Amino acid sequence: MDLNITVIGTGYLGATHATCMAELGFNVLGVDVDQDKIDSLSRGVLPFHEPHLPELLRKHLASGRLRFTTDYTEAAEFGDVHFIGVGTPQKPGEHAADLTYVDDAVLQLARHLRKDALIVGKSTVPVGTARRLRAVVDSVLAERGMDGLKVALAWNPEFLREGRAVEDTLTPDRLVVGTGTNRPEDTEREWAHGLLRRVYAKPLSAGTPLIETDYETAELVKVAANAFLATKISFINAFSEVTEIVGGDIRTLADALGHDTRIGRKFLNAGVGFGGGCLPKDIRALQARANEVGASAAMRFLTEVDEINLRRRDRVVHLAEEHLGILDGARIAVLGVSFKPESDDVRDSPALDIAARLYSSGAEVSVYDPQGNRNAAARFPRLNYVDSAHAAAAEADLVLLLTEWDEFKRMGPQDLEPYVRERRIIDGRNVLDGEKWTDRGWTFQALGHRPGVPETVAAR
Ligand code: UDX
Repeated sequence: MDLNITVIGTGYLGATHATCMAELGFNVLGVDVDQDKIDSLSRGVLPFHEPHLPELLRKHLASGRLRFTTDYTEAAEFGDVHFIGVGTPQKPGEHAADLTYVDDAVLQLARHLRKDALIVGKSTVPVGTARRLRAVVDSVLAERGMDGLKVALAWNPEFLREGRAVEDTLTPDRLVVGTGTNRPEDTEREWAHGLLRRVYAKPLSAGTPLIETDYETAELVKVAANAFLATKISFINAFSEVTEIVGGDIRTLADALGHDTRIGRKFLNAGVGFGGGCLPKDIRALQARANEVGASAAMRFLTEVDEINLRRRDRVVHLAEEHLGILDGARIAVLGVSFKPESDDVRDSPALDIAARLYSSGAEVSVYDPQGNRNAAARFPRLNYVDSAHAAAAEADLVLLLTEWDEFKRMGPQDLEPYVRERRIIDGRNVLDGEKWTDRGWTFQALGHRPGVPETVAAR
């Protein structure tokens, strides 16, 4: 039997997953309650920037393997495996995750199922959610008199990174599948694992490790991975605070640490810190959940990780003040506003936060990001959004590099000199060669370096 797959929730995660499932050869139905989103996806238009995804989406709309709908009845009839990829945003004013969308998706599905099905949660959820949803599915099926159906629930967390979503989905570092059952005597667990091994046959045959485990472990792997990554970034940024006082080169420090294979160089790039739709919210939700289950002490270090991260933003604002004397009336060019390169996402973006705070202190802020301007303007319209680094630098008293797009990394002082009023730049991502800039009379400051101390580039 060929497997039919539905993907419920067609935001970042869901749209990527649905498209990649079609690329793996399955017939796929994407489901969302948002009619506009469904219309747009059905026309091959993605509401966000993600390399390679638009081409694949259009390829599989054309091949007929991928369709979209708002209709749960159709989804329940169509799917053998139903992936849940809806969002779990931070609750407004709280740290805990808002599970409304996950709960609704599972409930809707359970209400409409008329044939055997495997429900597979992909969303990032607080530990305990899968077991609770499993009970919800059972009780809805029982209420409907459908408890004869074979319906299983598995948790299969998603580790994709924005900007590399397609490659992370098609060739993941690992696959984790958690199952559990309220009826230990039945064979549901083996059935669920078997179906998912078929779904992921291609990556598995390419050697992707598969970890088959219980619900709690699967849920925790995801948040633990994000907590570890956030900790690694804040670790190096904490050392930035030290080198800014005592001197030293944070990049060389990171390189030297990274050569230790037990540590590794990845995620040791010091700068304005982490942002985006996952890391900040996930470490907060993890702490909130730990508090609920009585493990608050165990996750307390994440408060520090979060604070170190936010202090990097303060640091850039203070540095700007130090360099300019007074922010009121100063012209500041902000290069990069998305939370990381190759993304137009500005959720919890350190760059946008810094730009907005400089504006609120009276500076005139011009912003250029290769992809992020539109989303940033929707969130913070009062900045002057322009369409090139040159335009942002026009008459600037200070240039801030806050997101390390390639075009900024390649940039040299000569590129900006015709435009700026003052030769002053803060490298918030530690990607420029300071000597090149100071040689041409620029005041150059990189995060993690003592002000006024030239960078040592020799070791790089
Ligand atoms: C992250 C996880 O990597 C991914 O596995 C999970 O599924 C979702 O969350 P993403 O949010 O796309 O992915 O971005 P990521 O590449 O992890 O970067 C997160 C933030 O950390 C960015 O703001 C980035 O600029 C920052 N970062 C990353 C650093 O400041 N220094 C580093 O060394 C690495």
